[in-house]
Amino acid sequence: MTVEPVAFSDDLASVFQKPVVPRHLAVIMDGNGRWARTRGLPRVEGHQAGAQTVRRVTEACCELGIEFLTVYAFSTENWKRPKEEVSALFGLLEHFLNQELPSLQSNNVRLQAIGRLHELPSNAQRALQETIRQTETNTGLTLILALNYSGRAELEDAIREICKSVANKRLQPGEFTQEHLRQHLYTSQWPDPDLLIRTSGEMRLSNFLLWQLSYTELYVTPKLWPDFTKLDLLEAIEEFQRRQRRYGGI
Ligand code: IPE
Ligand code: IPE
Ligand code: MG
Repeated sequence: MTVEPVAFSDDLASVFQKPVVPRHLAVIMDGNGRWARTRGLPRVEGHQAGAQTVRRVTEACCELGIEFLTVYAFSTENWKRPKEEVSALFGLLEHFLNQELPSLQSNNVRLQAIGRLHELPSNAQRALQETIRQTETNTGLTLILALNYSGRAELEDAIREICKSVANKRLQPGEFTQEHLRQHLYTSQWPDPDLLIRTSGEMRLSNFLLWQLSYTELYVTPKLWPDFTKLDLLEAIEEFQRRQRRYGGI
């Protein structure tokens, strides 16, 4: 007698699924300036404290087995800030990359970056390329820094490339699909984020991953980024695990 494998309905199968951690976590790291202001400190000290949170959250993601962590570090709109703050931010980026390299290596973290990187100050570009190169073969968490990034700039860059393909007749307008667009995004090699965390309580996307966040679960916490702890991350993930993702279905 042959025993037929038991086929569970989709609903029943989900009962047996263990809570899963997001494969891809995206973070809008906001509130460094307010954290500093409430302490009577210069804003740059808020950014320094924020860099420590990046380290904590990266380590926690490694422990949790998250595969991709994308953090919004500098938007195309952040150039509007005083030039002292902008140059302090890029100085801090360079310092962070140099200081964190040993821990990225020991945690098997691969560093990547998205955004209009060619417009960054040349020292920051060099440090970034060097860290990307040195961590290229790591196989654990992929940490993606969004630098001089915005969703609209990314779409503009992608569409420009597609226009070139049409102009030189490699693509017929009638053949164009959203898959072409997806393939031209900076993030084409990675899955879309499952969970987006924004700190500091602001209820907006601020031009982050506009395409990729279509079906991402959103989580906003009032905590300022320098105060965000591993426990806060676990709370966000717990909340994510309670969400029902329907993707337009029932
Ligand atoms: C986020 O903190 C860091 C960057 C945008 C670079 P902010 O600097 O935006 O902090 P707030 O929003 O002024 O408190
Ligand atoms: C978003 O924060 C950008 C980054 C976290 C890098 P902002 O502080 O720039 O966003 P707004 O101005 O509050 O929308
Ligand atoms: Mg802000």
